[in-house]
Amino acid sequence: MAELIVALDFPAADSALELAGRLRGTVPWCKVGMELFCQAGPSVLARLRDMGFHVFLDLKFYDIPHTVAQAVRAAARHGAEMLTIHTQGGERMCCEARQAADSAQPPLLFGVTVLTSFGPGQMPGIEREPADFAAQLASMAAGWGLDGVVCSGQEAAGIKARQPGLRCLCPGIRPAAAAADDQCRIMTPAAAVAAGADYLVVGRPITRADDPLAAARAILDEMHTC
Ligand code: C5P
Repeated sequence: MAELIVALDFPAADSALELAGRLRGTVPWCKVGMELFCQAGPSVLARLRDMGFHVFLDLKFYDIPHTVAQAVRAAARHGAEMLTIHTQGGERMCCEARQAADSAQPPLLFGVTVLTSFGPGQMPGIEREPADFAAQLASMAAGWGLDGVVCSGQEAAGIKARQPGLRCLCPGIRPAAAAADDQCRIMTPAAAVAAGADYLVVGRPITRADDPLAAARAILDEMHTC
């Protein structure tokens, strides 16, 4: 059964925690990304865990292997249960991150393939179709021992067919009537679940809704009727 993650992209801890309080008991996971983390620091992870959420720290590490491994260790110590690194950081970076995660309280380690904000022809210096490139990066991520990949729902079925053990975490989720915002490779919650997504990451369609709890419930209903 796919799980819902709400992206708490807020400029301050107070507003993020206030929204989280409204979703507590309904949405199992919160995502802390670079905006909130840079503003609030690691303490926000503990506060969300104390509220009963699973916590996903989405900082998309991409650096030399040693630096990424040390960052993974630190993030795990702060209670992140799921982390992201960039698959384009390559084999050594991903394998050292894997080892670092295993030596800590092991968080799930996901590799970002191609950001869902990229459409065809938009990746700098890369001519390939995003879906094709994402599939190749996913197969490398599986070989490097990552738990899963971040990909568009549009790529999930192909990735799952080739690497059934690899989890697919899909942002770029938009209910049928919602605005795409800056996302490009989007999918509805139902279509992403039908394609095999294990986790759906949803930000603005929930956080900017007039009634965030109702918006989250509608997405969960759509996910569970697949
Ligand atoms: O508001 P929206 O639903 O577009 O938020 C999507 C979230 O998922 C954002 O926090 C963004 O950082 C994250 N994300 C993404 N695409 C990726 C990886 C993460 O949109 N490939």
